[in-house]
Amino acid sequence: MAGFVKLATLDELPTGAAKEVEHDGRIVALFNVDGTISAIDGICPHQGGPLADGPISGTCVTCPWHGWQFDVKSGKSSVNSRVKVEVFEVKIEGGDILVQVG
Ligand code: FES
Repeated sequence: MAGFVKLATLDELPTGAAKEVEHDGRIVALFNVDGTISAIDGICPHQGGPLADGPISGTCVTCPWHGWQFDVKSGKSSVNSRVKVEVFEVKIEGGDILVQVG
């Protein structure tokens, strides 16, 4: 299992912000919801839309391409319980955002 890697700093991801980061060929979408950092697979399972670019409401992000919605904490789709994006573990060390990718 891969270890935690630094993908961003807290300065780069203020409250309400989202950020797309590539690591080792994977696209990760980071979100700061009310000070809590979440990390999910950044590629929408529908047709590959960039989830970090979607509008977020509460913990729900909407894919900018066709509107599929996912909870950034659970990765679950709000409309289809069989659809889910991968959720990565996050820890904060100092001002760094570390994510366990893969
Ligand atoms: S690619 Fe995300 S909803 Fe279609």
